[in-house]
Amino acid sequence: MSVKKPVVAVVFGTRPEAIKMATVVLELKRHPGLDVQVISTGQHRQMLEPILERFRIQVDHEMDLMEPNQSLFRLSSKALAAFEQALTGTGRPDFLLVQGDTTTAFLGALSAFYAKIPVGHVEAGLRTDNKYFPFPEEINRRMISVCADWHFCPTASNRENLLREGTSSDQILVTGNTGVDALLHTVGREEDASVSGKAEGGKKLVLVTLHRRESFGATLEGVFHAIRALAEEHPDTEWVYPVHLNPNVQEPARRILGDVPNIRLIAPMDYFEFAQLMKRAYLILTDSGGVQEEAPTLGIPVLVLRNETERPEAVLTGVVKLVGTGPADIARETRRLLADPAERTRMGRAGNPYGDGKASERIVAHVARVLGV
Ligand code: UD1
Ligand code: UDP
Repeated sequence: MSVKKPVVAVVFGTRPEAIKMATVVLELKRHPGLDVQVISTGQHRQMLEPILERFRIQVDHEMDLMEPNQSLFRLSSKALAAFEQALTGTGRPDFLLVQGDTTTAFLGALSAFYAKIPVGHVEAGLRTDNKYFPFPEEINRRMISVCADWHFCPTASNRENLLREGTSSDQILVTGNTGVDALLHTVGREEDASVSGKAEGGKKLVLVTLHRRESFGATLEGVFHAIRALAEEHPDTEWVYPVHLNPNVQEPARRILGDVPNIRLIAPMDYFEFAQLMKRAYLILTDSGGVQEEAPTLGIPVLVLRNETERPEAVLTGVVKLVGTGPADIARETRRLLADPAERTRMGRAGNPYGDGKASERIVAHVARVLGV
């Protein structure tokens, strides 16, 4: 007689969630005692597809929610209605996993609570302790922590954050970050951290990604003007910037940076190709969360163009520097690193504090234990 296996639902909707959930899905599929149900809100449309193809993941329940320039209100109300359909009735899973701090993750966790389905939070316990920075992610992840039954923390300091807020220690597991699993699965371990840092033609390659909502408007424009000035000042550098599809990023990026000969504005890249490019970069300028974890794994220094970070570990080891969004600070720190290859190599060698590539294994083993299989 065949016995029905417990169903674990994995929820994602944006590019970084799909990347960081991919190896969790693959690991769940490998487990003989579990069935997996993949739910996508489709919060991102074009930026999600190549990742699913790359990891050969089929979506079981597609909500297809994305709208151009979507507001948080509209996305949230549509997501709640769609989650009610997905999580109640015959498709109801036995356990639900969300990742990170997006609107998809928060509404997935809240909906699971409404449906009384146990929730596991992958990448739990990251904090800036600043309500509006990053916006709305700091509050999203706090609200997910309240809904979650299990907290899978990338690092010990994430665990400390949760303990400080009163989370019970037996609900917390330090696993490492699944983003490291995905990266190692995709490009393998870096053997030589002192890769050339050169673009074709021998110029120093500077890689840029920017997309945070709290920077939209004057802050982002100031950052773009700083980048423009730096590129013009350093003709021996080649800047590559895969521009996020958010119209609030696309428009100023094209207006301010579109005509600089040594800046290449390109479409968002396939994850594998982006990872290869990161490996070849001399330096990365970013406000991305995931890139702050990946670059240390690859041994590439990062300047974070934000005033705070929920990922202090790599700042402490020295591979990441928190520079802020002020044009003068960005100019000073970038100039310094471009002029000092020895410092760049030193930073790159500081090491990766975000995990050993086995986070997904640990998470799935724990979920299986909870479900008694
Ligand atoms: C969202 C997450 C943020 C995460 C980021 C990763 C929230 C509140 N924010 O950013 O935490 O760091 O994703 O990239 O959940 N767009 C497309 N095609 C795509 C994706 C986006 O055209 O494939 C455009 C659309 O016009 C869309 C807009 O970008 O409306 C913004 O997408 P959204 O998911 O709302 O982005 P953010 O909130 O900026
Ligand atoms: N990334 C990608 N293509 C790109 C830029 C980034 O695949 O052109 C990947 C990157 O390697 C990382 C993730 O997207 O895994 C980060 O996504 P994003 O910066 O949009 O979100 P965040 O991590 O800030 O939430």
